[in-house]
Amino acid sequence: MIVLKSAREIEQMKEAGKILASVHKQLVKMIKPGVTTWEIEEFVESYLKKNGATPQQKGYRGYKYATCASVNDEICHGFPRKQALKTGDIVTIDMVVNYQGALADSAWSYGVGQISDSAEELLDVTKKALYIGIQQAQIGNRIGDIGHAIQTYVEGEGFSVVRDFIGHGIGTAIHEKPDVPHYGLPGKGPRIKEGMVFTIEPMVNVGTYRIKMDNNAWTARTEDGKLSAQYEHTIAITKSGPMILTDQDEI
Ligand code: MF3
Ligand code: CO
Repeated sequence: MIVLKSAREIEQMKEAGKILASVHKQLVKMIKPGVTTWEIEEFVESYLKKNGATPQQKGYRGYKYATCASVNDEICHGFPRKQALKTGDIVTIDMVVNYQGALADSAWSYGVGQISDSAEELLDVTKKALYIGIQQAQIGNRIGDIGHAIQTYVEGEGFSVVRDFIGHGIGTAIHEKPDVPHYGLPGKGPRIKEGMVFTIEPMVNVGTYRIKMDNNAWTARTEDGKLSAQYEHTIAITKSGPMILTDQDEI
């Protein structure tokens, strides 16, 4: 069942989204060679606390941290670690913010110091794929239109789209209906309606889309060891189009 949100509920989620967006804006300055993802984790936790918010991922299905920090070939659900990031790395920081019971979810990939041209291209294509997907999140379209647009663009640029992890509805729980794959066929899936709130979060790989799981049962990485990136926004469907609840340009 897809729970539609009222304008008031969407406003509350937008408050959570604003806090999340301001975290990402600060991470741009913080992520440099030498910083550890553990320091990022601690910064995020204390920043959320200072702003009256809590990290929803901590304790979710036994996950222990406020953030996921996925470096280089790690696709998602990397654990924060005390190992320094080095120049040329890319890192995706993903988190869910709870502000007065309303949730927002956003992941962003960052280059550490000087990165290679091909890593830069991966980041550009992945971010553009997110916005191409958002463009399809219009009343009357179907969920499959989003994934189709993303897959067509990403594969056209010579990259691949991860299949094993997808976007999702979100509200008072992290994962609600609908499922939002970043691949698929146009005209398929549920019809998009006013009041739906879901994430679009393409994970894009340089090589194969296939994944392998670490022994920690959480972290997914690319099967071929090549780089992976991800950008994620939480989107509300409104009469005037998709509204980005985690927009970093508005704050
Ligand atoms: N933020 C993630 C998403 O985009 C959810 C993380 S699951 C957790 O779907 F267990 F790591 F918290
Ligand atoms: Co997320």
